[in-house]
Amino acid sequence: MIALHAGTAYTAVMANLTIRQLDEETKRKLRLRAAANGRSMEDETRTILRELLSVDRSAAGPRAPRPVGAAPAAMSGARPALASTPAALRRTVSGLAGASILLVIGGGVAAYKSLDLIRRLRERGAKVRVVMTKAAQEFVTPLSVGALTGGTVFTELFAREAEHDVGHIRLAREADLVIVAPATADRLAKMAAGIADDLAGAVLLATRAPVLLAPAMNPAMWSHPATQRSVATLAADGALFIGPNAGEMAESGEAGIGRMAEPLEILAAAEAILTPRDLPLAGRHVVVTSGPTHEPIDPVRYLANRSSGKQGHAIAAAAAAAGARVTLVAGPVAIPDPPGVEAIHVETAAEMLAAVERALPADIAIMAAAVADWRAATRAGEKIKKGSGAPPRLALAENPDILATVAHLKAGRPRLVVGFAAETSDLLVNATAKRRRKGADWILANDVSGGQGMGQDDNTVHLVTEAGVETWPTLPKEEVASLLVARLAAALGELKEAAE
Ligand SMILES: Cc1cc2nc3c(=O)[nH]c(=O)nc-3n(C[C@H](O)[C@H](O)[C@H](O)COP(=O)(O)O)c2cc1C
Repeated sequence: MIALHAGTAYTAVMANLTIRQLDEETKRKLRLRAAANGRSMEDETRTILRELLSVDRSAAGPRAPRPVGAAPAAMSGARPALASTPAALRRTVSGLAGASILLVIGGGVAAYKSLDLIRRLRERGAKVRVVMTKAAQEFVTPLSVGALTGGTVFTELFAREAEHDVGHIRLAREADLVIVAPATADRLAKMAAGIADDLAGAVLLATRAPVLLAPAMNPAMWSHPATQRSVATLAADGALFIGPNAGEMAESGEAGIGRMAEPLEILAAAEAILTPRDLPLAGRHVVVTSGPTHEPIDPVRYLANRSSGKQGHAIAAAAAAAGARVTLVAGPVAIPDPPGVEAIHVETAAEMLAAVERALPADIAIMAAAVADWRAATRAGEKIKKGSGAPPRLALAENPDILATVAHLKAGRPRLVVGFAAETSDLLVNATAKRRRKGADWILANDVSGGQGMGQDDNTVHLVTEAGVETWPTLPKEEVASLLVARLAAALGELKEAAE
């Protein structure tokens, strides 16, 4: 039972727990080592473990720490743990499409390049808000920036309207990623010292999103020990760097390291930061159905069941947290859509099937909805009146079998099709027969006898596969979901290995 529990934790979560338990000094050293190697602290922990456990240690020696700024246009700095930051938890972003980017434009000659960056970010579907420093407005106007973003440009910390409307804390919190481009020497020093005497400073201090810095300055300013101290402090604090590049400066005859990275390089770095790495279902598409269906009898009455959608929604949330793109097809439920999933709301079984078919192809289909087996054979256009005679007879027609339809698809069948069998008696016998009959890969045999399971917060399910029955303890629905998702990720990995 304990082993099963441990299996629910994703690698990133495990790494976080490990890091949290370290003493401050070890944590500081790990942060510096990760920054020098351009890895997140989790990645660095994994690398250290891998090196330590490696049979041939000499072949896997530690990477020499890279001096900050020695790799032009390379991303450096410790990546904040995306999986553990509130900004990342707010919504599961994958890439730039739909991501909220807060761009801070600093007062440097390269500020004009940020106009191109805004255009390219928006082309890729990102929502861009811009904060301009006082100095930045000497180089580009808020008018031209606003024309490109199609929204307000934020310049003042004490702006009554902005405080009421957005405010610096909301600006900071609503961002999935903050980019500072150009990041001036002055800004780096202020950030390293935690100075918040203007809007940019306040936002940068308040944000919990990853921060990507694109420094741009004269080579002498860049190599100055004061700037390098700021850079080292910021990298240790978790900021990420793109550039600066080596090349010609705006000042005639000057060359060296200090040119701001090109907009396309900044874009690629932003994309990389927002694309979940190392998550077990990254790059996978998972379709989940959830909740009951309502089958209308007349405009005011319907056939339904007691499903709350809690289990299906928890599975959708767990799959999204594991990095998958999730399409949730939900029947009528009273719970909110989980964050980071594309939710499609339907009412009837026929609508649910159509939505699932539209959502395919997918790697995994988890049919957790309690789909009504029958619908009213005819649907009265007007409310059926209570007459003086005998009650009306309700003729039923069979609904489409969504699980069996998906499982028997000739083309485009998901590699793993999972169904639920809610049973009040002979649970395992019925679930085993259902798996074969429906053509599903796995069935979660759901014990709903005595009112348990449906609508409750805990669930008793057992995993029925071709190999047999695996008994799971009664668990909160979120843990059932995590356990299932961990098992699915492992199974997909095994399928991939077998195919190679
Ligand atoms: C013409 C001119 C160009 C400048 N270019 C840069 C630059 O490329 N990088 C830099 O760090 N500072 C540069 N500065 C200095 C910054 O504008 C100054 O340090 C300012 O306080 C930065 O403020 P901010 O970080 O709030 O934008 C330049 C100043 C002038 C007058």
